[in-house]
Order: sequence, then structure tokens, then C-alpha cells
Amino acid sequence: MPVTCIASAKSCGVTTAALALTLASSRPSLLAECDPAGGTIRAGLLQGQVSAGYGIYHLAAAERVGPVELAQAFASHLWPLDGTTGHRKVLPGLTDPAQAAALSRTWPALSDVLHVMAESAGHDVFVDAGRLVLESGHLHPTLTPAPLLHKADVVLLTVRGTEQGLTLARHLTRPLRAELDEYGSGADALGLLLIEDGPFRSHQVAEALEAPVLAALPWDPETAAYLTAGGRPPRGFARSPLLRYARTATEHVEALTARRHIQQQYPTPAPHPQLAGVLDRLAHRGGARG
Ligand SMILES: Nc1ncnc2c1ncn2[C@@H]1O[C@H](COP(=O)(O)OP(=O)(O)O)[C@@H](O)[C@H]1O
Ligand SMILES: [Mg+2]
Repeated sequence: MPVTCIASAKSCGVTTAALALTLASSRPSLLAECDPAGGTIRAGLLQGQVSAGYGIYHLAAAERVGPVELAQAFASHLWPLDGTTGHRKVLPGLTDPAQAAALSRTWPALSDVLHVMAESAGHDVFVDAGRLVLESGHLHPTLTPAPLLHKADVVLLTVRGTEQGLTLARHLTRPLRAELDEYGSGADALGLLLIEDGPFRSHQVAEALEAPVLAALPWDPETAAYLTAGGRPPRGFARSPLLRYARTATEHVEALTARRHIQQQYPTPAPHPQLAGVLDRLAHRGGARG
């Protein structure tokens, strides 16, 4: 299964999209909230059920001990998103953006853990990478989780179909493609995720940003408000337009990943047997409350 990083040029629906894809996937799924500007799911969809004792910040100390300790900490900081089955989990994000600097050396090892979860443990893995900040034409080393973006199977740049949305994203696509060519698995890992707000259609967005639109999500305020703020799910939540299109989006992501693997433009990373064993045992317990 793929590891997909979701990001944007400006706040436009990244977290909502990441949650929708995680909840809509046909496989067991996992969302790592890696936005260096801070996580919003804890106070939003999860309505403060998760204490500050859980979350990605705690992985920094474990990473300094070693990869197996990181894998153990990772599995024990996952929080179930679906209550009962444990098939959908979230790694809650930072509670304070000042913590981001501590994580900059954690990202490469966390990326290995996420790829093991995807490739050996069969999870559809999504990363909320937040708003992308460039410095001298490259992804900023502490204000973005750059290593996660480099190593992702697919990078989805979320954009709204509005003039403002396109104007801001236009400055990102070229440097991002160049960055993926230089440090990642190739520029064709980049796809656009269009949030259907505004007048611009898919082909116009693709043309303006010189990148393919891999999938689109509808403007669906009721479902999005629930994913943003939590509370009682709206009636027919699982069949809502947002969730149905999100399911299709996960299929497009999977197809792109499979195509790229077949083209052998980059080798499938070798599985990490030690990590795979630890994660298999721990992750199947259903996370922190499993
Ligand atoms: N597809 C959508 N339809 C309607 N509203 C949306 C949609 N996606 C996001 N929103 C709303 O836009 C706002 C920002 O969304 P959020 O996912 O928090 O953005 P980001 O993570 O990029 O900052 C929230 O109020 C959210 O409910
Ligand atoms: Mg967000």
C-alpha cells in the first residue's frame, strides 16, 4: 500500500482531506499528523479525548534510542479513529509548533516506520504535511517534514479551484517537482488534489499548475465541518459526497503507486524485518487504547 503525503500552499483543506481519505480507504488505514505548524485533529474531530501524553512529539525521544524503540513508541501512540475495529488510526500531531524543531531529525526514521506499515503491515498510510514553506527554493528543513515528502510514494498538493488558490500553488509546483527529482522518487510522484470550491475545473487547474489532477474532492460543508470539529457525525456520513470521492481518490493513489512501481523508476524499498515484526505485533492491538 502507498504512503501518501498531503500538503498545500496555504490552509485549504489538507487535514479534512487527509481524514476523509483515511476514513474512506478500503484497507486498514493510518493517518500521521505531521504538520509542523501543529495538529488540529486532537482538539477537532477527537474533541480533546487524547491527552498531551500521546502524539508525535513523544517519538523524538524514542528515535534517539533506536529504530525498534521508535517503532514501539509509534505503535503505542496511535489512537483509534473508528472506535471499535481499530482498522483506522491516527498519530496525533504537535500540540505546540515550537516542538517542530525537535522532530526534524525524527522524520527520516519515521518515514521508514510508515513505509513498513504500508508495505509489510498492509496499511494505506496518509501523512498530513500541512502548509509547505520554501527556503531558497527548497522545502524548509524545520517548517516542513521534508524527508517524509521526499520518500512518499505519492505527494498530493491540495488546492482549491479559486484564483487565490491557484495563484499561491503556482509558486510551489515547480520547486516541488525539482525537489522530488533531486531527493525523492521522481517528479511524477506529485499529483494535485482539487477541492471543488471556485470556478476552475480540473483541466484548467492542471494547466495552470503544470501538474496532473490526480483526484478531486467535492465542496461538502456538512461533512467537512464534522471532520474539522467533531461531534455527532452527520446522517449518511459514510455515503456523503466527500467520503465517496475520497474513496475514489484512494483508488487513484493506489493505481499511480502501482504504475510507478511497475515502471521501476524507483526500487521498492527493502522491508525492514526488525521493524516489521515489532509493528505487526503492536499495531494489530489497535493502538493506544487497543
Ligand atoms: N471539501 C470541503 N468542503 C467544505 N469545507 C471544507 C472542505 N475541506 C475543508 N473545508 C473546511 O475548510 C476549513 C479548513 O480546513 P482544514 O482541513 O483544517 O485545512 P488545512 O488543514 O489545510 O488548514 C475547515 O473549516 C474545513 O471544514
Ligand atoms: Mg491542517
